[in-house]
Amino acid sequence: MSPFLLTRTLPVDATDAALRADVLDGLTRQPKTLPPKWFYDAHGSDLFEEITRLAEYYPTRAEREILIARAGDIAAASGARTLIELGSGSSEKTRHLLDALPALHTYVPVDVSESALTGAAQALLAERPGLSVHALIADFTRPLDLPDSPGPRLVAFLGGTLGNLLPRERAEFLSAVRARLVPGDGLLLGTDLVKDEATLVTAYDDAAGVTAAFNKNVLTVVDRELGADFQLDDFAHVAVWDPDNEWIEMRLRARRALTVKIRELDLVVTFEEGEELRTEVSAKFREEGVREELAAAGLRLDQWWTDTEGRFALSLATVD
Ligand code: SAH
Ligand code: AVI
Repeated sequence: MSPFLLTRTLPVDATDAALRADVLDGLTRQPKTLPPKWFYDAHGSDLFEEITRLAEYYPTRAEREILIARAGDIAAASGARTLIELGSGSSEKTRHLLDALPALHTYVPVDVSESALTGAAQALLAERPGLSVHALIADFTRPLDLPDSPGPRLVAFLGGTLGNLLPRERAEFLSAVRARLVPGDGLLLGTDLVKDEATLVTAYDDAAGVTAAFNKNVLTVVDRELGADFQLDDFAHVAVWDPDNEWIEMRLRARRALTVKIRELDLVVTFEEGEELRTEVSAKFREEGVREELAAAGLRLDQWWTDTEGRFALSLATVD
């Protein structure tokens, strides 16, 4: 049996306090917003996995194609003994990397979703006996308490999740990652790329309505955790392309004028008919932009790989 440790670096009540603060802040400002990390309770994590299997949602397949093609190159370039994966989810694609890293000693999946982490760990323990797995329930935008493990370290941030941070948050995040690395360590970054609007919008507004259910799940989380009375049918799922910011925005649009009570916050929130709550941005990138954002954080883009259709990119950055 391989060693497995699950550490909660955020106490349950700290998560609760963070949700309260985000909901209070986000629903009392104009326009209203909620941060996307609150999609991912157990049901939200399952819905995300369902999204990755949709015909319209190409990023997962495109990134898997690159990982399969380049896993050997990544292993050779990084020589990683510790793989730290931020927002690891099901760790499903990561297997291609784990299989290609012969010297790997420790895998550290980091996620806010406990259900995703335990599901991933169970599968990995069965498949990779001997690998030390130290799962962290943590918010990757906060300082991380990483376990002691041998270098070189490779930090993987896959799926395009960097694009779910706003530009200022991205800059802070990348600088914080850089601060944790020493010469010889690396960052493997997955980014979805700018492409035609129709392909992008369809990927975030699928015919079966799975993305709509994922989007609305944030309301279910707020209802359950904070005693709110959001009714999912009162909101319509909206996905729009913002060409100036080059990102997709997911929003929830009030179908009628509404009043929502959030008992635990002693808060009443009103929505006008048609008012939109922004729940996620998903930025799409270009090679030059990724190079510049990495450079601004003190990281050098060494490798840029795309899938054969040029939809998604994996970057490998190293620290001198
Ligand atoms: N890397 C996987 C999963 C992507 S979904 C893939 O490529 O398929 C995004 C994942 O990041 C989810 O599992 C979600 O729970 C996690 N996540 C989102 N915001 C987070 C945060 N601030 N801190 C830690 N994990 C986060
Ligand atoms: C996790 N993240 C990269 C996904 C994305 O594409 O931005 C989340 C998602 N939102 C809607 N569909 C998938």
